[in-house]
Amino acid sequence: MHVVPDVDDGSRGIDESCEMLRMAAGQGVDTVFATPHGTAFLCTDVRASFRLLREAVLERKIPVDLRLGCEMRIYADTARQCVRQLNDGTLPTMGGSRCVLTEFTFETKREEYRLCIDTLVENGYTPIIAHIERYPPMNVVLARELKEKGAMIQINAYSIAEERNPRIRSIANTLLRERLVDFIGSDAHRTDHRPPLLKRGMETFRQQYGETYADLVVFENPRKYLL
Ligand SMILES: [Fe+2]
Repeated sequence: MHVVPDVDDGSRGIDESCEMLRMAAGQGVDTVFATPHGTAFLCTDVRASFRLLREAVLERKIPVDLRLGCEMRIYADTARQCVRQLNDGTLPTMGGSRCVLTEFTFETKREEYRLCIDTLVENGYTPIIAHIERYPPMNVVLARELKEKGAMIQINAYSIAEERNPRIRSIANTLLRERLVDFIGSDAHRTDHRPPLLKRGMETFRQQYGETYADLVVFENPRKYLL
């Protein structure tokens, strides 16, 4: 979630952040990864804002455990710089694990995906490809190839049943059918823009793809790789 206040295009203040976390908790979420855009870490003190949010969550007794990560955008020509920023701690991994939520652009070419994933994996990081269903060149073949290289895959819960773009909804469901998805996220930005809604997507997930797979993605994988 883009829940750290006033650091990126997410939450506009501590009250909105707390409201987003209450909405998530109300749907059964007990652990939230705050993942501001990587660029925010270069120009603002994201960690200080994160600490303030954590204190507010405790004070207001919102029952979620908050962890810090980032959503790191990567290009072929910035891949080595990304590794340096992870190595020197400029950018955080997901809660101190080796996993990094990694974002591409709509223009990223297939070869660029391969190079970026290879660079991160060779340096000991496990890229989690953020909302993979939204990238135009994505299909089962490319997703499987990137997983074989060592990447993991995240889709947004609303892409499963609520997304209006049929291509995005279709690829999200195809990836689930092929059991290629490792993590589900909300990609929540604000209370009124991409709110932290997981319920409907998760219900569809469980009904269409089974309890066992849903539990793997929602509980077991986060516990095993991120916590
Ligand atoms: Fe993103």
